[in-house]
Amino acid sequence: MKMKIAVLTGGGDCPGLNGAIKWVTKSALDPRMVANRSLSFEVIGITEGWKGIIEVDPDDQKSFAKYIKPLNEEIVRTWDRYGGTNLGTSRTNPFNPKNDRSGKLIENIKKLGIDAIVAIGGEDTLGVAYKLHKLGIKTLGIPKTIDMDLAGTEYSLGFDTAVNIIMEEIDRLRTTAGSHSRIFVVETMGRSAGWLALRGGESSGAYIILIPEHPFDMNKVCDLLQERQGREIKYSIIVTAEGAKPLGQKEFVKDSNIDDFGHVSMGGIAAYIANEIQKKTGLESRHIILSHLQRGGTPSAHDRLMARWFGIAAVDMIVRGDFGRMVSLQRGDIATAPLEGVINKLQLVDVEKYYDTERYNGRRTIL
Ligand code: F6P
Repeated sequence: MKMKIAVLTGGGDCPGLNGAIKWVTKSALDPRMVANRSLSFEVIGITEGWKGIIEVDPDDQKSFAKYIKPLNEEIVRTWDRYGGTNLGTSRTNPFNPKNDRSGKLIENIKKLGIDAIVAIGGEDTLGVAYKLHKLGIKTLGIPKTIDMDLAGTEYSLGFDTAVNIIMEEIDRLRTTAGSHSRIFVVETMGRSAGWLALRGGESSGAYIILIPEHPFDMNKVCDLLQERQGREIKYSIIVTAEGAKPLGQKEFVKDSNIDDFGHVSMGGIAAYIANEIQKKTGLESRHIILSHLQRGGTPSAHDRLMARWFGIAAVDMIVRGDFGRMVSLQRGDIATAPLEGVINKLQLVDVEKYYDTERYNGRRTIL
């Protein structure tokens, strides 16, 4: 039996996506494996995520060529070295109640002769995969999000590269911060979860780390900074997640736009904190928003490795008929988890376990 696998990437891009696509393709088409499997595969890439399957007109050559990319070992050979997604991505929600296009999606899946879909994405993209699975379509997921807030897995593609970028940028900031004796407030991504800020801040030795899971007291931030006065220290680095909020206040949003999945665009907390520090303490402060730099560039070794293992495991799942689930990392091993478990549930920082609420930093006891 021959199965047609469609691979797509949805939501924000990140390093590791191309590697996962490469390894789904390579593993599915490996001639040595075909002999051991009772089925063989054809692999196609869908461009622009769910949008690609909705918008494609399978009967129109031009449209077909735009949205459907046949994949083989030669095409994907070097993909794992590069960041972003060569298939393109979108935040299209086929099940958006205000504009439900799930009918078109399902019609096209059938017209294209797709037997199984590998969706690489975060909560939103995998949520669509779960809904399709409930409607009888064979889907499975590969977790990615630099926010690392996906439930059911200890790792999501893109996180390690992003943490390394945060660390490298903070290393750069230190020389200029020190030269001018300034406070620097660094804003990382992380809408609901503080993993990026916490792990980025810990690995770069930030003095204060602010996360969405623990609203902070602005006066306490200033007290902590003033505690350092009189010592040899010339500057301080504060890392804040974009979703962190001062006590009694709401998250800072960029504008009133809401995406297809109902999310607002966050941003602005670092500027607020820097301003408040300068006002309350007189210490010269600057802020920087790392923004999409955190999703750019080439994948770290860890992301290349995880992309490889996740991609291979996804094909193993198809061979076993393990649909409605996603590849996941559990206790350091590659495993699978039900897609149902990632819907409307985020993996947030366990404040008690990982965060020092006195020092606004990573905790100082580990055992
Ligand atoms: O991938 C998730 C995320 O990194 C969030 O932390 C952030 O709020 C969002 O993407 C921004 O994405 P974009 O500007 O590409 O829509």
